[in-house]
Amino acid sequence: MTHPHHIVLIGFMGSGKTTVGHLVAEKLDWPFVDTDSQIVDEAGLSIPDIFAAEGESGFRDRETAVLTKLTTEPPSVISTGGGIVTQPRNAPLLKSLGFVVWLSATEADIFSRVSRNRNRPLLLTPDPRQTIHHLLEQRRTLYAAFAHLTIETHGLEPEEIAYGVCESARHYYGAP
Ligand code: S3P
Repeated sequence: MTHPHHIVLIGFMGSGKTTVGHLVAEKLDWPFVDTDSQIVDEAGLSIPDIFAAEGESGFRDRETAVLTKLTTEPPSVISTGGGIVTQPRNAPLLKSLGFVVWLSATEADIFSRVSRNRNRPLLLTPDPRQTIHHLLEQRRTLYAAFAHLTIETHGLEPEEIAYGVCESARHYYGAP
């Protein structure tokens, strides 16, 4: 049976999906699912190790498998990896999961957040800031096309964003 009543957060690396997702799940008392964590748990490998062993395409296959599995699970708040929108096959899957929210962040905010860790293989380049710029250029229109709602997160606290997500989801699903 499909459960098209999830709340799905999409957006670039470092845009706050996991932090906000946890808060939304807490507010609604729903389970929280992070697709990256599911992949890591199932593979028994870190994300950089999956990229090294299977390439980006192996990682993307695992991402699609997690989304497919979630379509038959009860409602949850789902935080997705920033590249989920790069695979056209994920578009119908995301839509079938339910309400999709793009947490849009500025390039500067993203850079200041992601420069703190080395767990993102796509940013291990000589000039990560430039890489972020290019990937954002490629992906911006994809996030917009996949999402029912866009939240411009600059200047907002995670709590404020979570509140916006909850209220919009309530409206989307027609709850009082
Ligand atoms: C990726 C984003 C990462 C992770 C992987 C690839 C991407 O997730 O899935 O490193 O292509 O943007 P976060 O957005 O949670 O960092």
